[in-house]
Amino acid sequence: MRILGIETSCDETAAAVVEDGQRMLSNVVSSSVDLHAAYGGVVPEIAARSHIEVIIPVIEQALSDSATDWDEIDAIAVTQGPGLIGSLMIGVLTARTLSITKNKPLLAVNHVLAHAYANFITDTLLPGYQLPENPPSFPALGLIVSGGHSQIMFYKSNKDYNILGQTLDDAVGEAYDKVAKILGLPYPGGPSVARTAENGNPKAVKLPISALENPYDFSFSGLKTAVLRAAQEIVGKDYTLPSSELPGLLSGKQKADLAASFQATAIETLVRAMVKAETEYKPRSVLLAGGVAANSELRRQLAERLATPLLCPDIKLCTDNAAMIAAAAYFMKLQSANPYKLGVIPSL
Ligand code: KG4
Ligand code: ZN
Repeated sequence: MRILGIETSCDETAAAVVEDGQRMLSNVVSSSVDLHAAYGGVVPEIAARSHIEVIIPVIEQALSDSATDWDEIDAIAVTQGPGLIGSLMIGVLTARTLSITKNKPLLAVNHVLAHAYANFITDTLLPGYQLPENPPSFPALGLIVSGGHSQIMFYKSNKDYNILGQTLDDAVGEAYDKVAKILGLPYPGGPSVARTAENGNPKAVKLPISALENPYDFSFSGLKTAVLRAAQEIVGKDYTLPSSELPGLLSGKQKADLAASFQATAIETLVRAMVKAETEYKPRSVLLAGGVAANSELRRQLAERLATPLLCPDIKLCTDNAAMIAAAAYFMKLQSANPYKLGVIPSL
């Protein structure tokens, strides 16, 4: 079964063809990230406009890379939410139109759940991918960490899963992006904070880990504020100093220490919760997913401290892509949606 996946929830316009949920025949991603960098975050209107410009060429490229004709496509899977409303609408309206004109079933996918399915893609002829040899075994624990979400999942099967815990405020990727802004590092913050942290001392600044009622919930907004206060203190100012002045006052070494201390605390928060969940739920595999799953320190620490085999997607499949959307639609055995009616759900 060949599924064409379409993803436009944020600033990536993506299309991919995946066979039987596991063989990735193509994976095309066009990002408008460069257009947003100047603003230090995604500008929804710019993202939506750029989806309109590139979605058709991206889909055509995904079909041609996979040497697939429309006759060979069995279904179209599209991200229905969560995400930016204008961005989601471009993907969903395109998928609806194609579903009607090409007479294909339309499958509506939850973007956050789909991230985990990047780990089910085990086969490709495309160059430059490092894929897991085998798909995850159930029961499985999942850590989905991105710019919009941070959650721990427990899967008994593809159809039977629950959220053990999630962030009560900022997502961990969002905290990376905000800390990058405080330190004057380029957007997106994840990779730039991680790079800067390599030269810093992770123990230089003591930062708090929030204690919450549910041990699987997270809170990252306090951590981001603690980084801001620590930075203001380091330069000898108080909380009234505007954060925009900080990058000019902090030395390279101070930025590196703050980045390393932030990263160590954020990762410790995630790893601690996963170690606890492993003891309680005794999974047969643990899967990592979402943009923050690209972080090599997070991967290293999880692999080191968990006894269960850890699956991590290729870096290119951690951040937003449509191969995970097609794979999720296949494994979750979604019912087809009405192509005349399917709406977007920004807060899904
Ligand atoms: O999954 P994704 O592409 O989009 C969302 O669904 O949110 O995740 C993007 C997030 C951004 O916040 C970005 O800063 C973060 O993933 N990220 C990283 C790394 N690469 C991307 N965070 C930490 N370390 C990285 N290497
Ligand atoms: Zn995502």
